[in-house]
Amino acid sequence: MKDARLVRVCTSLLALAFPLPLSTFAQNAAEYRERAETEKSWPKQAMRSAHGMVVTDEELGSRAGVEILQKGGNAVDAAVATAFALAVVEPAAGNIGGGGFMLVRLAGGKTTFFDYREVAPERATRDMYIGADGKLDPEASTTGYKSVAVPGTVAGLELALKTYGTMKLADVMAPAIRLAEEGFAISPKLASEFASERKDLQRFSVSRRIFLKNGVMYVPGETFKQPELAATLRRIAKNGAAEFYRGETAHMLVSDMAQLGGLISLEDLANYQPKVREALHAHYEIDGHKWDVFSAPPPSSGGVAVIEALNMLEGVPLKGWDDAESVHVTAEVMRRVFADRAVYLADPDFAKVPVDGLTSPCYAKELRATIDAVHASSSKTIQAGQPHVCGMEARMAAPQEISLNDGPHTTHFSVVDAAGNAVASTFTLNDSYGSHATSSAGFLLNDEMDDFTTQPGVPNALFGLIQSEANAIAPGHRPLSSMTPTILVRDGKLSFVTGSPGGPRIISAVLLSVINWMRLGMEAQASINAPRFHHQWFPDRIAMENQISPQVQNALNAMGHMTRKIGHIGLVNAIGIDVTTGERLGAADPRDEGSAVGY
Ligand code: DON
Repeated sequence: MKDARLVRVCTSLLALAFPLPLSTFAQNAAEYRERAETEKSWPKQAMRSAHGMVVTDEELGSRAGVEILQKGGNAVDAAVATAFALAVVEPAAGNIGGGGFMLVRLAGGKTTFFDYREVAPERATRDMYIGADGKLDPEASTTGYKSVAVPGTVAGLELALKTYGTMKLADVMAPAIRLAEEGFAISPKLASEFASERKDLQRFSVSRRIFLKNGVMYVPGETFKQPELAATLRRIAKNGAAEFYRGETAHMLVSDMAQLGGLISLEDLANYQPKVREALHAHYEIDGHKWDVFSAPPPSSGGVAVIEALNMLEGVPLKGWDDAESVHVTAEVMRRVFADRAVYLADPDFAKVPVDGLTSPCYAKELRATIDAVHASSSKTIQAGQPHVCGMEARMAAPQEISLNDGPHTTHFSVVDAAGNAVASTFTLNDSYGSHATSSAGFLLNDEMDDFTTQPGVPNALFGLIQSEANAIAPGHRPLSSMTPTILVRDGKLSFVTGSPGGPRIISAVLLSVINWMRLGMEAQASINAPRFHHQWFPDRIAMENQISPQVQNALNAMGHMTRKIGHIGLVNAIGIDVTTGERLGAADPRDEGSAVGY
C-alpha cells in the first residue's frame, strides 16, 4: 500500500517537470526514512520495472535518464543525460567541473571503461601545498582555485556518447538544460546543504551569488535557477566538448584561474584527454553458477581492491553481518587490501602497477593464510604483500615511500535499459561542493588535487589514507581514486550494477554490496540496506555503521579489534536483475535521498 501511494505522490509531484507516462515507477527512498538511525523505515524491496531503470542520488536525475530511455535512447544515452542533469540538481557532487569513471556493459557482453579522471595542471608541482615552514597546508589542496585539477567530465561523457550512444549530445543534454534554465524546487536537503557549506561557499563571490543568494539563502520549495550554467550547457550542447576545452567556457575558466590563484591554463584544457581502458575482470564459481565481476582499473584503486578482496574471501564461509567471525575475516581482508593499495596503486600511465599480481588467486591465497580465524592482526605488523601471478616467483616490487590519510561527496548512478545494456558510473568533485569555488561559467570546481600524495608521510586533508610516492603531484598525472563502478554477470547474463561514493569507504561499500548479492544471495534492496563496515589499514580500527549489533561489536573487540561506530558508509545506488522474470530491481540507498525510477 505504502509503495503504491508513494509512486502516485512522486509521479504527480514531478509530472510538472517531467511529463512521463504514469507507468513510470518511482521510489524516493528519502520518503521512507528520517536518518540512518531509522533503518526500520527503509524500503525492504527494490523497485521493480519491466524495461529500464535509473538509480541516482536525486529523483530529478533519475527521471532525466528515464526520459531519455523512453525516447528510445539506450543506457549510455540515458547515463550521459543523467550525469548532466546531476550536474544541475546535485551540486555537491554531480558536475561538469570534476571527473569520473563510467563502466559500460553492452547486452552482447562487450565491456568498456571510460576514464575521465582529472589531471594535474602543467604548472602543478610536487610540493605545491607545502608552506615555507615545511608544513602541509591542508586548506590549499581542498579549498579554492589552486586545489582544482583539470576537469574531465565533459570530455568523458562526450566520448562515451560517441562510442556507444545513439542520440545527439544536444538531445541527451535537454533535460539538464531545462532544469538549469527553468529551475527546480529546492529540496529540504539542498537548502540544508547550502547552509552547512555556507562558510566555505561564501568565500568565493560566484559561489556566494549562485548558491547562497548573496547570503539571503534559499528555502525549501523555492525555485532554483542557474542561468550561467544553463548558458554553458547550451554552448556545450551546440559545440560539443570542444566548447569546454577550447571555446568560450575554456576562456572563462582560465580567466577565473588567472584572477583567483588557480593554475589551469588554456593549454591544460586543450590537452585534456579522456581514456578508454580495459575493465578489470575476475571470475568465480559459486553454488554451481558462474559469476563475472567487471570493475574499475587504475587510476582507480577500487577494482583491484574489490577483486583482491573477493579472491581472498573465495571459499571462506560467510554467514552475514550479524556474525562476528564473518565481519572479522572480511575486515582482515580489507586491512590487507588497503596496505597493498597504499604501496602499489597510482596512475598506470606513469607508474608500474602490478595489477595482475594483486588480482591473482595465488597471491590471494598466500594473503589469506596470514589471517587468524579468531584474532585481529595489527596494522603495524601487516605490510603490503608481494603480489605475483600463479606460477611466478614473488618478486619484491620497487618499494614505495608511503604516507597516512579518512573522509565526504561523490555520486554514483546505475542504469539498465530495456535491451540489457548497463552503465555503472561514479563521478565527483572530491569533497562535497569540491573546492567550493565556482567558475564564472556557472559550475563548481573540483578539489581533486587532494587525492594526490600531497606530502609524503603526512595524511592528506580529506581522507586519512596512506598513499605512495608514485601518487605524488606531477603535471598531467591522474590522482589515485577509490571510485569503483562495478558490474556483475551471472551465467553470462547481466546480474548487478553497483557503485558508491565515500572516498576509501567506496571500496568497502561496493565490496559488501557485491558479497551481499553474489555470495549471500540477498534481495537487491537488502544488499544495499545491510549494515556496512570498513577497515583501511590505518587508522587501525573497524569503522562500522550503527546497524552492526552491540553483540557483534563486543565480539570483535574481544578478538582484539578496535571498533568505532560512524554514521553511514557509502551511498550505493544499484540495479539487480531478477533471475526468473528479468525485471530490473532498482535499489536506491536509503541512507540518503537515493531514487530508483523505472518503467
Ligand atoms: O576519487 C576518489 O576516490 C575521491 N575523490 C572520491 C571522493 C568521495 O567519494 C567523497 N564522497 N563521499
